[in-house]
Amino acid sequence: MNIQTHPLDRRSFLRKSTLSAAGLLILPSGIRAAGQSPNDKLNIALIGAWGRATAHYGWLKQQNVVAICDINEAHFAHALKEFPKAETYVDWRKCLDHKGLDAVVICTADHHHAFISNWALNRNLSVYCEKPLALSVEEARTLRANWLSKKGKLATQCGTQMHAQDNYARVKEMIIDGAIGEFKSATAWGNRKLRRDGHFPASGNPPAGLHWDLWLGPSPERPYHPEYFTGGPGSNCLQWNMFWDWGVGQIGDMGSHFMDLLYCVTDAKLPTSVKATGEKYNPDVTPVELEAQFEHPANDWRGPIRVNWNQGGLYPRSPRPFLDFEKLGHGAMFQGTEGFIIADYNQRLLIPSGKNPDLSYYKPRAKDKQLPAIPSFYQEWVDACKDPSKSTCCNFEYHSQLIEQMLLGLVAYRSGGEITYDGAKGVVTNNAEANALLKRNYRAGWTLNG
Ligand SMILES: NC(=O)c1ccc[n+]([C@@H]2O[C@H](COP(=O)([O-])OP(=O)(O)OC[C@H]3O[C@@H](n4cnc5c(N)ncnc54)[C@H](O)[C@@H]3O)[C@@H](O)[C@H]2O)c1
Repeated sequence: MNIQTHPLDRRSFLRKSTLSAAGLLILPSGIRAAGQSPNDKLNIALIGAWGRATAHYGWLKQQNVVAICDINEAHFAHALKEFPKAETYVDWRKCLDHKGLDAVVICTADHHHAFISNWALNRNLSVYCEKPLALSVEEARTLRANWLSKKGKLATQCGTQMHAQDNYARVKEMIIDGAIGEFKSATAWGNRKLRRDGHFPASGNPPAGLHWDLWLGPSPERPYHPEYFTGGPGSNCLQWNMFWDWGVGQIGDMGSHFMDLLYCVTDAKLPTSVKATGEKYNPDVTPVELEAQFEHPANDWRGPIRVNWNQGGLYPRSPRPFLDFEKLGHGAMFQGTEGFIIADYNQRLLIPSGKNPDLSYYKPRAKDKQLPAIPSFYQEWVDACKDPSKSTCCNFEYHSQLIEQMLLGLVAYRSGGEITYDGAKGVVTNNAEANALLKRNYRAGWTLNG
């Protein structure tokens, strides 16, 4: 589809109207008919209307939510109280064809994320998508390629909102400025242990209005069980995201957040080799215990580094006996020749440990040289939707590489330990069979590129 001729040239209108005096712009009538609002609010479809979506209602109310989609009709009432004029849909494929849309916000189960995002980009819609963005390397790479072809014309953001915490920039500056000497390695970890033995057996029919077949979407057919829907708002994902069909477990859940801290700080891209070990493979359920190591080449400010992800209570070795990582929960540790930084979303702790731990080798940068803050993660995306020359911190180019790395960790785990990877081509070079694990198979009737 040619981005210049799509009715969503409304976005160009929004962009221009913020730059020129309102009302002075003369537009072809076809563009006005395409759902343009009298102000510069975005027309948004909210896909996945309850749960995590409720955390977005506040900022979404500043825009026009014109369509709401949920596979569970019982969830409409809650959202309609906030967005009474929105039209409702149960199938996101139909929702994406709602006239006059500018953008979508995706808060569905994980196995739909890459699908909805890619379909939305194909329709020249800007996308905000909850994490994890993709469940296979192929999905991550497809989204990156599609996004790169539209960069500058649309906006994307993956929902790792902690990225806007000031701490991310402060840790990055400390490492670039030498607070831990020569930077060598970093480990991020998550401590959730959500153990399941396998899928639940068939148990009754879904309640009226819950469209189980649409919930399954591209994933294999499975019988309904109510246990998949017993979680609270914003945490129901913990009822299903450990199953291979619908998620990738903690490496994609908390891994998306804490690897983001590490990824942002290290300016990493794709790894050249990956090693992973974990508990015995279960064909239904992703591992609780898993350790993955990723080798990253040097970049313009640091040498090569090793990046690790640990989950399920497998913490890295603490540099001091009194520092109990179990008490920190999720976190990240950066190691250099002169010491360690231990951090989470909003705290950092520097432990000098080199031969001369007097910190004389490190000078914190002046306030006016600090990396700029991101005032609002959500507003950053809204602003970029209206003016796509603006960038977003967790756009699909950035986040697709992060999640591709994590998914390669699962490929290494499933294929017996260690893989070497050609990131330019997206190919495992030392294990032909591992290449089959770079993609998922979809149910008949579902395509990633619709
Ligand atoms: N960024 C964060 O901090 C954060 C926090 C919590 C959850 N999340 C993410 O948000 C997403 C939703 O998590 P949740 O706990 O709200 O899950 P959930 O199971 O409660 O689903 C959220 C809503 O989406 C609907 N839904 C599911 N699949 C759908 C589909 N294919 N089409 C339309 N509607 C669909 C559900 O009926 C529900 O109303 C997950 O991807 C999760 O990882 C992110």
